[in-house]
Parts: sequence; structure tokens; C-alpha cells
Amino acid sequence: MATGTPTRHDPEPSPGDPSSRPQHSAVRGGVHAPGRAGIPARHLRTDRWWLPPLATGLGLFAFVVYSTWRILSGADYYAEPYVSPFYSPCLSENCAVMPQGSDWHVVGDWWSLSPALLVMIIPLGFRATCYYYRKAYYRSFWASPPACAVAEPHTKYSGETRFPLIMQNIHRYFFFLAALLAVVLTYDAVLGFRDERGEWGHMGLGTLFLLVNIVLIWAYTASCHSCRHIIGGRLKHFSKHPVRYRLWGWVGKLNAHHMALAWASLTTIVLSDLYVYLLASGAFDDPLFF
Ligand code: FES
Repeated sequence: MATGTPTRHDPEPSPGDPSSRPQHSAVRGGVHAPGRAGIPARHLRTDRWWLPPLATGLGLFAFVVYSTWRILSGADYYAEPYVSPFYSPCLSENCAVMPQGSDWHVVGDWWSLSPALLVMIIPLGFRATCYYYRKAYYRSFWASPPACAVAEPHTKYSGETRFPLIMQNIHRYFFFLAALLAVVLTYDAVLGFRDERGEWGHMGLGTLFLLVNIVLIWAYTASCHSCRHIIGGRLKHFSKHPVRYRLWGWVGKLNAHHMALAWASLTTIVLSDLYVYLLASGAFDDPLFF
């Protein structure tokens, strides 16, 4: 029949049927994919939903600019007894002389670039694949989606099931490396209690910076979703693993604050590095508590 009048052989369009939607929803992906509610508006939110992704994007962008400058500079990262967290452990022979710092020199003098490049792969890889940061930069930079209940501009979605995003699964391995790195930074913070002569009993403002920094780095690392799974996952009966159950409970409490810890530790890393930079470049002397 060519009249266009529905017959009993033409099924009634349902609300989820793409043919019942406005013209623009013919795209076969994203929120206009078959099976999604046929809502023509991009979103129905009336609040300032764009503010959090904008603020997050600006914060991450500022960190990338600052850390790139400091990592590539290869200078002013050691002011005895403090070493910048960007440069520890300092693994190459072109490291600044750090008689009390963590300079293990496992890379010979053939390495002429900034020593930070040798170690930064660990914290950057750990944070770049972190569940929270993934959400943050997917929203802020890829608008995928920009916010809850706001349609994304992309017409296709494969999640993290294909290359390159499937590589995000490497996060659990970065967790172990990041925990090792936290041990080294703990060592650096303890060395902050020694003076220039190597004697214990010194505490300056730099010691405080390194201490607060390492406490927040441990809190962020322990609150990791992978850490939570390693401690309490793959168990059938918590009753048979009371220690793991107790640890899992603690990690779960930290995990609830993972986003706040991610930002707090990122901030103290930058502030600790900036403080060491200012000392090393002679901007001022380290105020001493004792
Ligand atoms: Fe964020 Fe592991 S999930 S550090």
C-alpha cells in the first residue's frame, strides 16, 4: 500500500523506535542510538553542569604545564637536604650531587636529558590511568560525556574495550610501581630531618612540605581502586580472612575520598617541588623549626 496510512501489518512505532524520533536523531550512535530515549534536547539540566569539568580541565592543564616545565628543566631540584618529588629517585649519573638524597645512578653518563624523565613515567602512568583521573579528563577534554545526563558529541562508543583505551587496564601494575616510589619518597622525607652535615635533629619548612606530601601520596595510593581489589578482591568468605577484611574496610574508607586525595596529593607534589626550586635557585633560605 502506498498511501502511508498504517495498516495492521505496520507495527505501531514505540517510544524507543528510531523511526519515531525527530529527524536529527537518525545518527546510529551515542545518545541517539537505538534503544535510547528519544529526547531531542541535548540535556535537561538547568544547573551549571559545565563548571566542574571546566574547573577540572583548567586544573589539569595547569599541572601539565608546570610539571612539563619542571621535568624538562633538569635544574634546581635539590636543595640540601631536600629533593624535589619530580626527581626522586635520581637515577642517572648526570644527577645533581645529592650526598644524602636518593641518587642511585643506575643509568650511566650516556643519559644527557633531564633525570626526571627516567622516573616520571611511574607517577604519570599511575595518575593517567587512575579511575578518577580517567573520569576527569574524559569529561573535561573529550566531553565523553561532559557531565552526568548531558549528551556527548560522539556518535560511537566503544568504552575501554579497544586500543588504545584498553591499555588503561595497566593501572593495576602501575599501582605496585607507585607504591615502590612512595617508599623512596618516604626515605626522602625522613632525610629531611638531617642537616647539611648529615646530622639528625634538623627540621625546616622544607621537611614539613615533604612530610605532608608523602602522607598524602600514601593516602592517595592506598585509596586506589586497584589497591582495594588487591586487598579484598577475589575472596569468597571474608570471615576466613579477618586481616584482609579489616584492611579492606580501611582502604574502602580512604577510597571514598579518592578524588579529594588525588587533588590534594597533586597539589602538595607541586608545592614541594616549587619550594625546593625556590630554595635551590636562591630565592630565600629555608626557615628552621629546630
Ligand atoms: Fe586512582 Fe588507582 S584508581 S590511583
